[in-house]
Amino acid sequence: MDNEHRTLPSPKFDRWWPAGVKKVDWSGCESKSLGDAISAIQRDDSPVVLWGSCGRGKSCLAALIASVSRRPRFAAASAILGAMMASQQNGMVEWFGVDRTIGGMIRWCSDASILVIDDLGSRQLTPPQADAMLQILQSRYERGNLIITTNCRPDSIAEMVGQRITSRLSAGVWIQMTGPDRRPERG
Ligand SMILES: Nc1ncnc2c1ncn2[C@@H]1O[C@H](COP(=O)(O)OP(=O)(O)O)[C@@H](O)[C@H]1O
Ligand SMILES: [Mg+2]
Repeated sequence: MDNEHRTLPSPKFDRWWPAGVKKVDWSGCESKSLGDAISAIQRDDSPVVLWGSCGRGKSCLAALIASVSRRPRFAAASAILGAMMASQQNGMVEWFGVDRTIGGMIRWCSDASILVIDDLGSRQLTPPQADAMLQILQSRYERGNLIITTNCRPDSIAEMVGQRITSRLSAGVWIQMTGPDRRPERG
């Protein structure tokens, strides 16, 4: 898989590219996790769970893969679950510049060619948030191609997201992102 990136289309850093994620290229990706992730997406395995500690390149790899698909969508788990809670409470929420009902939020998820939910399990989900996350997972059953990133280990994610979500995630492919913390040191 060493030269895998040479055969991949150039990433598209369009308007949708997530603000907090550095614009990087395939060439900097660790080759095993890149190859495993591309193969899983090509096989339509879903969800693809990229897991590992901070700074291993999970968010960058998820965004790169999404960027070469027709209609990529990327959201931090805390942001989209917060928005879904707000839409349920208030009837409507502004999400990517559009006022949406909860149905509109679900459509935003299901309409994506690849949906990335970034950083799931960084906080313990409340029961309503877990229900909303299950709706997101459900919305991808027909479409496939859901990428989830998490700092949680496969054997401990249930503590953060609960059993129902964990059992759905277990049906997907887990790819560990190893190597050093690549975030530049902050002073
Ligand atoms: N493909 C890549 N090429 C070059 N640098 C990368 C690449 N992937 C990650 N990095 C570097 O590692 C940092 C952390 O990556 P990130 O995806 O945010 O990690 P994680 O989501 O695992 O915490 C990035 O800000 C960037 O500096
Ligand atoms: Mg990240």
